[in-house]
Amino acid sequence: MTLTHEPLRRGYDVDENAIRFSNYFHVLREIVHLSNGWLPLAPGFETKYRLGDHIHDDARAISKVKRRLYELRHPSDYPGAPGAELTALLDRLAGAESPQQYMELAYGEAKPALIEALEVHLGALDPVTDEPSLRLLTQVHERQAHHVAELGPDDAQSRHSDLGSLAIDLKAPPRRLAIFEPLGDPARDEFVEVTPDGDPFLSAELYVNDPDENHVPVEREEQRHFFHGLMDAELCAAELMARNSHEHPEMPWDFHVDMARQTWDEVRHARVHEILMPTELGCRWGDYPVGFAYFRSIYERDLLDRLALFNSTSEQKAMWRHSHRRKVLVERGQETVAKVFDYLLADEVPHVHNGVRWGAYLMEGDEKAYRAYVRDLRSGLDRTGAPTSA
Ligand SMILES: [Fe+2]
Ligand SMILES: [Fe+2]
Repeated sequence: MTLTHEPLRRGYDVDENAIRFSNYFHVLREIVHLSNGWLPLAPGFETKYRLGDHIHDDARAISKVKRRLYELRHPSDYPGAPGAELTALLDRLAGAESPQQYMELAYGEAKPALIEALEVHLGALDPVTDEPSLRLLTQVHERQAHHVAELGPDDAQSRHSDLGSLAIDLKAPPRRLAIFEPLGDPARDEFVEVTPDGDPFLSAELYVNDPDENHVPVEREEQRHFFHGLMDAELCAAELMARNSHEHPEMPWDFHVDMARQTWDEVRHARVHEILMPTELGCRWGDYPVGFAYFRSIYERDLLDRLALFNSTSEQKAMWRHSHRRKVLVERGQETVAKVFDYLLADEVPHVHNGVRWGAYLMEGDEKAYRAYVRDLRSGLDRTGAPTSA
């Protein structure tokens, strides 16, 4: 195909362009932060599943926007602070008092305003001199439109005229992200029964790593309970990662991207079990009670201990159990169910790595010290890997 010679469009000058990217940065950063805070409190599984996906999309979009800001503003990628009009919108988002209210603002107003600004930007930029922005904004626009279609209210619409052109305060200190109160129990669909001990059918033998003691559920009835418990455990994992990110805005940006990726993985895992139950096992989400004792034992610790106990211990040990379960199920001819463990195992590798990467970061980059710390903490666990004391 031959290159054409359309005249160049005037487009935006570099400073105007950078201001637009700064506005997008602030909207997306606030939404990732707040969606992470609300995800555990939104009761519906479908909402959690979509939120986890969108958090990951938005976190990746932020990385790309930061990169473009760096390119345009080299050597600094500092996005400035939002001006008065954007601050008012972000403050309203941050001030939502329920997941429903937050969703209405984020998906009914903030994302539609972002979409409208992206459309203005895409319509005016010069596609040759500013091709990197064209590529990036096309992708972001496509995903944002998808998000509003999935979770937006019927009357979703931008109440701003071109959010991209709002003033940015380059001299002001960075915007402070408000952190929610610590979580009580995470929310579940109203038809799911929550009890102190969870499903009494689930025995410790399902969760021990000793090859002689570990029991792979092979009977239909025990598989029903097991996958139901596993779906809830995946949700708890997503909620833990979302809160790790929300409660620690001071961590480097890559930490939030890693947490967002894991949140998405965990809600996808929950979705796999949610499909497997009715299609392979004859049961569904909500058929058995769930409990939050294990979740609480991890959540009540600080970030370092959460990473050490969850990513570097629980998930690390789950890798062996997933491969053991897969082997037993293949031998029994349950190929579809066995394949699930193959993927769960593959996804677990980066989750375990998140533990080492950020645990070592929290110990001044000393990976050896972190591994010693994990070994020490493990000595206080019972045979299923649950902490015996806080
Ligand atoms: Fe998982
Ligand atoms: Fe995981």
